Amino acid sequence: MKRTHTCGELSSTDLGKDACLQGWVRFSRDHGGILFFDLADAYGTTQLVYDPEDVDKGVDKAALASTLDSFTRESVVSVTGIVRERVTGTEDLRNPTGKVEVLVQDAELLSRSRSPPFEIGEQKEHLLPAEDTRLRYRYLDLRRAEMIRCLRSRHHVLSLARQFMESKSFLEVETPLLTRSTPEGARDFLVPSRVHPGSFYALPQSPQLFKQMLMVAGVDRYYQVARCFRDEDSRADRQPEFTQFDIEMSFVDREDIITIIEDMVSHIWKGIFDEQLETPFLRLSYHESMNLYGTDSPDLRFGLPMVDVTEIVREAPYDIFQRVLSKKGSAICGLNVKGSDGADGLGRNEVDRLISWIKRHGMGGMTWMRVTDKGLDSNIVKYFTPEVQKSLVDAMGAEEGDLLLFLAGPRARVLEAGGLLREKLAADLKLIKEGSHQFLWIIDCPMFEKDPVSGNITAFHHPFVRPVGELSADVQGESYDLCLNGVELGSGSLRNHDVDLQRSILGMLGLSEEKMEEDFGFFLEALSYGAPPHGGIALGVDRMVSIMLGKESIREVIAFPKNKRMHSPFDGSPTPVEDDKLSELQIMSLAMDDIDMDDIDLEDSE
Ligand code: AMO
Repeated sequence: MKRTHTCGELSSTDLGKDACLQGWVRFSRDHGGILFFDLADAYGTTQLVYDPEDVDKGVDKAALASTLDSFTRESVVSVTGIVRERVTGTEDLRNPTGKVEVLVQDAELLSRSRSPPFEIGEQKEHLLPAEDTRLRYRYLDLRRAEMIRCLRSRHHVLSLARQFMESKSFLEVETPLLTRSTPEGARDFLVPSRVHPGSFYALPQSPQLFKQMLMVAGVDRYYQVARCFRDEDSRADRQPEFTQFDIEMSFVDREDIITIIEDMVSHIWKGIFDEQLETPFLRLSYHESMNLYGTDSPDLRFGLPMVDVTEIVREAPYDIFQRVLSKKGSAICGLNVKGSDGADGLGRNEVDRLISWIKRHGMGGMTWMRVTDKGLDSNIVKYFTPEVQKSLVDAMGAEEGDLLLFLAGPRARVLEAGGLLREKLAADLKLIKEGSHQFLWIIDCPMFEKDPVSGNITAFHHPFVRPVGELSADVQGESYDLCLNGVELGSGSLRNHDVDLQRSILGMLGLSEEKMEEDFGFFLEALSYGAPPHGGIALGVDRMVSIMLGKESIREVIAFPKNKRMHSPFDGSPTPVEDDKLSELQIMSLAMDDIDMDDIDLEDSE
């Protein structure tokens, strides 16, 4: 028997045809001797029926019934039969094959399945088993239509992206996985070398240095669907092993790269959603973004910007504000929750709950005022003169029915808490339109930042970003980050093709001449052999696809992800390795008893 159709193919146009289907038995039911099966494969589900009254004369009914009896759930079977209409009233109009069924005349069990650990139907997400069970039996989880949709969409996104790059004459080049460490800010995964005992390769955190060397090589336009490895704690949008759509171009400026990405993303959106994205995407400078939204990857599907009212209320005799403002570097910022007086708005109880919530997020409290037909109203408005009240109303665009919330404290903390409050309000008040996509470029980021603990200067992105002007500790970088719905989707920059400038930057980051040679000598040498001006960007493929499909976690769009604890429930990795394998690598094994698990810091922030 060889299949003539997939399980998602038959329709009313096939009535009367002979068909051979092969797939997995999803459900079976016995209606008084008439047997029904749902047969499923990657393409769909078709109903099979065995009715002893209807089978052809020559068929050995006893043998057929006995074979069908062995069709346990998730077994792989092959059936032949005739396509016929379903009885009126029993059609399943949500299913493309739902108007027909196959009357079984012959059947064969190809592979028997043990009773599956969970049901592989179209169940709602909250009815799914625990994630570790899904990952332990990922091959079963991936049989679900929703998971097949995720795999297919991911494939489609990558194929559209490749198609676009091809049309723009980009060359796909693979770069090595066994490399020297690349400084993207996370820990490396190390691979011991047997041939060079005591030496290690690092798995690449990104192909950054290789793509830059490809520009020195004259490749001009490079891209790669690149696997990257970072030993950092797993989160909803972070995996230790993930995929970037990585791009580098020569003889370009920032606008060239931004345009290529906007056009590529638009091509993908058109292909997946048949939707024309509005370009150019919005842009905010890093400082605007931090001041308005308290984060460098704001979600602009809703408004609620923060308004700095520090100077407006500076002289008001309201004790809490005065105490805060007596300290240097303090700020008072307000958020205007529009139209908050109706039943869907925020009543007194909700505001109290928000105050308790904000206290758990590092603030001493929160002040609020309502805008009524008589002006501002709350038990503290008496501390603000009519002029100050008017300035607040004007600055915050306040109208009758609005609720004004104010946070006071050290500026950085106010901005951070305000950003979180903004997101909470959007979720509580359902301000986000489902299925909407809002892109945003964050430009003009700083080149460097100070490590709050050590006080050392570190690279804001990575050390290869070109400064906008003269090199100094507070210069901006020629960088551009792409955000989608409040998530950093990609990051890129123009690079330093001047080797001396690159050396100065590494020097500012505290690398001695010797360390520079040791870690980056090969790269600096490459830059000294005629490096063209160049720049690039990398988009997180897992993040992009998960947002497109409305998934909470990137694990939903990765065939075999690690779980939240960086473990693979399906193959059990990472595993201890036998002593003889370790000694071949000249690595000493530690007994488990010697390892202090408390030293291993794993945050589980989901
Ligand atoms: P960056 O480190 O910002 O830049 O990474 C680029 C994009 O990769 C995705 N990403 C991740 N996705 C899943 N899990 C992770 N652990 C993870 N880490 C990063 C994000 C991020 O925006 N070489 C530079 C790019 C360049 O300058 O061209 C780089 O890797 O979506």
